[in-house]
Amino acid sequence: MPLVVGNWKMNTSVPDGLQLASRISDLVMVGGVEVVILPPFTHLWSIAELLRGSHIGLGAQDVFWEPAGAFTGEISPTMLSGWCDWVLVGHSERRHLLKETNADVRRKLDAALAHELSVIVAVGETGVERDADHTEKVITRQLDAAFSGRTASDLESCVVAYEPVWAIGSGRTATPDQAEQVCQLIRQWMATHCGEAAAQHLRVLYGGSVNDRTARELFAQSDIDGGLIGGASLEPDDFAAIVMAADPVGEASR
Ligand code: PGA
Repeated sequence: MPLVVGNWKMNTSVPDGLQLASRISDLVMVGGVEVVILPPFTHLWSIAELLRGSHIGLGAQDVFWEPAGAFTGEISPTMLSGWCDWVLVGHSERRHLLKETNADVRRKLDAALAHELSVIVAVGETGVERDADHTEKVITRQLDAAFSGRTASDLESCVVAYEPVWAIGSGRTATPDQAEQVCQLIRQWMATHCGEAAAQHLRVLYGGSVNDRTARELFAQSDIDGGLIGGASLEPDDFAAIVMAADPVGEASR
């Protein structure tokens, strides 16, 4: 089933976030698409209550790798496990602005999987890397770091999101061909390292300035199974339209 994830980033007050979650849950119906929202940590518990029994999944935007201890400001997987289903790791804003390394992303993925969270692992090249023709090398290095040695059963709890850094928040969506090429590369890497069946089963998302006009063609590509949506996920109508674009039978929205 396609997956559409709304990454709210560092946006909305708690009351505004509750309103947004409730609006999204009203607009987006159960259909042929799985929908997950990633509000800020401060909102998670109240939104979990609000969404209890609903068809919208909930996740965190990041997680630390230690279970507990003297790590001021961090949130551990044990704090999320059991009531929050998803977590995002490796987002480019954390890699670039907060200097997270490939090794950090691996440790976060290890910890999240050990606590039975479903994990969205984001990968992507910068504009400079793409211009220098290094896209394949950069993506492969990120995949090697996060996924080498993983089993097919680990992969069942993972989703990979291809997010070219130059496309995030820039209004410059990758073309469907550009996005498909890298998503195909990701699936091939998984087939080689974790087995063909696991690779076919894996959901690969595209993210980076997806909007209600570009979504349908992106999601129609054979290796793109949905999207990771930033800015447009803060606009309930736009987000619902994007969800609908991922629905092969058009049942995901009222
Ligand atoms: P954007 O963000 O849709 O605003 O480009 C996507 C993301 O960073 O996940």
